[in-house]
Amino acid sequence: MNYIWKLTFGTPENTTPCSLFGGQMDSPALASLPQVEENPLDAEGIVFRRTARGCTLTIPVEESEAFFGTGLQLKSVNQTGLKKHLRVNSDPVADTGDSHAPVPFYVSSRGYGVYVDTARYASFYFASHTTQALSGPSPARKVADNTEELYAASQLSGKRHVLIDIPAATGVELYVFGGPDMLSAVQRYNLFSGGGVLPPLWGLGMWYRSYTRAKAEDVQRQAAMIREDHMPCDVFGLEPGWQTHAYSCTYRWNTEGFPDPQGLLDFFNAAGFRVNLWEHIFVDGDSPLYEPLLPYAGDYRVWNGLVPDYSLPQAAKLYTAYHKAELVDRGVSGFKLDECDGSDFIHTPWTFPEASEFPSGLDGEQMHCLLGTLYMRANQEAFEEGGRRTYGAVRSAGALAAPYPYVLYSDLYDIHDYIRGMVVAGYSGLLWTPEVRQCASEEELIRRLQAVVFSPLAQIDAWMIPNPPWLQYDEGKNHAGVFLEDRERLTGICRRLFELRMSLIPYLYAAFYAYKTTGKPPFRALPLDFPDDVQVRDIEDSYMVGDSLLFVPVFPGQERRKAYLPGDGWYDYFTGEHYAGGQSYEWDTADNRMLLFVREGSLLPIAEPVEFVRPDTVFSLRMVRFGHADAACSLIEDDGESLAYREGALNRIAVEWKEGAEPSVRKEGGYAGQRYAIREFVTID
Ligand code: GAL
Repeated sequence: MNYIWKLTFGTPENTTPCSLFGGQMDSPALASLPQVEENPLDAEGIVFRRTARGCTLTIPVEESEAFFGTGLQLKSVNQTGLKKHLRVNSDPVADTGDSHAPVPFYVSSRGYGVYVDTARYASFYFASHTTQALSGPSPARKVADNTEELYAASQLSGKRHVLIDIPAATGVELYVFGGPDMLSAVQRYNLFSGGGVLPPLWGLGMWYRSYTRAKAEDVQRQAAMIREDHMPCDVFGLEPGWQTHAYSCTYRWNTEGFPDPQGLLDFFNAAGFRVNLWEHIFVDGDSPLYEPLLPYAGDYRVWNGLVPDYSLPQAAKLYTAYHKAELVDRGVSGFKLDECDGSDFIHTPWTFPEASEFPSGLDGEQMHCLLGTLYMRANQEAFEEGGRRTYGAVRSAGALAAPYPYVLYSDLYDIHDYIRGMVVAGYSGLLWTPEVRQCASEEELIRRLQAVVFSPLAQIDAWMIPNPPWLQYDEGKNHAGVFLEDRERLTGICRRLFELRMSLIPYLYAAFYAYKTTGKPPFRALPLDFPDDVQVRDIEDSYMVGDSLLFVPVFPGQERRKAYLPGDGWYDYFTGEHYAGGQSYEWDTADNRMLLFVREGSLLPIAEPVEFVRPDTVFSLRMVRFGHADAACSLIEDDGESLAYREGALNRIAVEWKEGAEPSVRKEGGYAGQRYAIREFVTID
């Protein structure tokens, strides 16, 4: 029994996320999740209606229920009482549901999840309205003389429900995921999607993307500087300038700026960098892919380029084969898949209209919902065919996207929105990075870097600035920064931050392996770990990183930071100071102080930082136990980049340290190499 219930209403559409990406009701990994008594939703109570605009579902809910999810919602973490219209859009300016990655999946605080299998811009009303007539007078409400009171949410009377309004469709399939808690429901949804992502080890290191107008000599100079300054860096990204024409894309090297592409790729690979290339999905007339893809394109163009229909296997194969032969097999390790969200009301024509038609029969609305995931799938295939893993960035995703090794990012630059993204993404099978680029002050740069280091993809996206921001932060002038007089000071601060990230690679790798195999998101909102604590429901500025770390970002200009620590007890990662859980604290955050807490009872593997991950890197580990209770952790050991782990070439190392006993290390699995050397065991108390 997998505790996933499928309910069919009316006549569902032919093309949905499940029809294209599969929904796995029988993933063997589901069996490892806790048992559930019965379907937590009263299926009989769900009302389905056909309407002139499509169809609706009304799902009864309890008074106290709270709702989370619906994808990358950058403006709110707790959806209770809100309406979300799940439209794909690269410029979500208000809390409407517009998103780079809307997902028609939510979880309830009652411990179940609901997925609506649709590629439509559905609207979700989370107990925001009632239909029942009142039996008596409405609750008293005084006449408001200010907008705060006037617009404050009002107390609802009557029966509560979630209303889901799906345009165009005459029916829909609904999947209910049992818990019994929210985390298990999210895990079930992720496993149903195909499981989470195991990135290559190098993907968890530091990333640097260079200036968009940089030429080969510039990027080589920067790469050399990064190595000379011992700034940890695993991935070097090239922005649009590498192509002959980028908006739309030719996917061909611009040999004026990059006269010897193979030489450049060889240079990077020899220096231990993986190369990541920027591109987007719209195919230029001058691209070798243009003619072959012409029969498979939609009727509208974007930046004069084709919009290929990658729901058609023939079209996806053309994309994959070209990328494999011309780029991947020549030494490219990943891609940044840009612009696949698009905005057609702020900027035109940055994307195709909803009324577009595609050869598969999809319309523009459906294509918007599916485009990011179709694009990721075609791109990933260029690596999988050669038995390799990749890790990249993407600007749009949607339903069932958990298995694709791409991390969402955005051009919007509000750091509060960026941190909210870290909190919410894990509710819906998504990964997100609050990237950093230009900054108005050194402090802002450091605060943003701190947040990036505690994200799935630690990327400095310097596409707007000619040099790394630790040498030349931008002072708000966008393109015209000045070199810092005291270069070593800021470089040193940034280096230590990057080293902190590198020291956590073994820990993060194990957390991602859990994501892959059990669906447990590596970056999580607090309600997933502390479901009974109502105080964490609205926390939008701190989150779990793996099972042991709680990261509390400090925002630029914040001299003091207040935060609530849930659970039993925590240790300050840097000072070792102990804090009781269930309380709020306030810290002085002068001098760029970071707030990172380790859960009491954790055994944390902390690695000696390396500058970049080599195929034969052996991490030297300090195993640190926080508190005296029995503590355990696992490490995952494999070649770190191929797909051989799927055939068993992987070891699970169980490290245990029981109170009063010697630590023990047990290894099982079929990987012959060695990735870790445990240097010492220490206790912080
Ligand atoms: C944007 C993208 C940026 C950068 C830029 C280059 O769409 O979000 O990160 O790549 O394009 O033109």
